[in-house]
Amino acid sequence: MRLLLLVAVLALGLPMAAGAATLVPRPTDVIVDEDGAVDDLFALSLLLKSDAVRVRAVTISPADSYLAPATLATQLILDRLGARGVSIAQGHSEGLNPFPAAWRRDHAGVLDVAALKGLRPSGRNPVVAEDAAHHLARLLSGPGTYTIVETGPLTNIADALRLKPAIRAHIRRIYVMGGAVRVKGNAEPPGADGSAEWNFYNQPRAAAAVLGSGVPITLVPLDASNRVPMTLGFADRLAARPSAAAQLTAQMLRPAIAEYPDEYYFWDPLTAAVLLDPGVATWKTLRLRVVTQGLSQGRTVEAADGAAVQVAVDADRAKVEALFLAALGR
Ligand code: RIB
Ligand code: CA
Repeated sequence: MRLLLLVAVLALGLPMAAGAATLVPRPTDVIVDEDGAVDDLFALSLLLKSDAVRVRAVTISPADSYLAPATLATQLILDRLGARGVSIAQGHSEGLNPFPAAWRRDHAGVLDVAALKGLRPSGRNPVVAEDAAHHLARLLSGPGTYTIVETGPLTNIADALRLKPAIRAHIRRIYVMGGAVRVKGNAEPPGADGSAEWNFYNQPRAAAAVLGSGVPITLVPLDASNRVPMTLGFADRLAARPSAAAQLTAQMLRPAIAEYPDEYYFWDPLTAAVLLDPGVATWKTLRLRVVTQGLSQGRTVEAADGAAVQVAVDADRAKVEALFLAALGR
């Protein structure tokens, strides 16, 4: 019995009080690497409101956003949702294939919603001087182990792994929004064949490097996120909840959904959701690699010599929506 208990404690990473048989679940320490789009900030909001995780740091890349508004929006959301002592670090790479400027500009509009307009950061969640890759490398060199939630291109993490390969041992798992495995991609600028998803298309070598790094990866590609469109009806149901988190996030989502009707999905939010409840998705272990050159660069392909990745191949829209409404509505 004691042996079984110890095995459970070690397997689950749970702390055990000396001499006591009581298991006390410990929140998972999480680092969020995001790129400042509205759905990134919505995903971050979910994690901040969950008791099962503790967000320790947020690193940002100026991919589907510009750095200054993305950083300010991140600071204000951390403040509004009660976070303290979360460090924020900026990356500076816009990627090999930058996101369209119009999309990047649009995401700054989040600062104009009523719940954020005119606010100044409190300083409780400081922007550190070191860049994102160095910050990740430093945090992941300490005694702790972290789960990373990646909702943008993998540039910052690839750079951190290059700076200090030994940090791999301190990453429990990376949850990545990216790729399109058995469906078409969503990156269709001139010069691309449309097979890649934007986060992987933005910096294909970073995606390939992290998938091949040996760190356990959970991937949420378009295959799963396509199954969970984000609608104004959902935003209305969120807005009907009186909590500050529901009000803030509904205000953020509405303009984004209205601007891209029928084209807006729970991309990053689904990635945060599967960390909290893997049961909202259907899973397959697939061997994957990422194309790094040519018209298909950023494409995710199945290959016998690819890395074994846990892949969300489908998702349950009703369960995902319910999870968000419950977590943000309280
Ligand atoms: O392809 C979806 C990704 O692109 C998401 O991370 C979303 O935030 C957008 O930037
Ligand atoms: Ca994103």
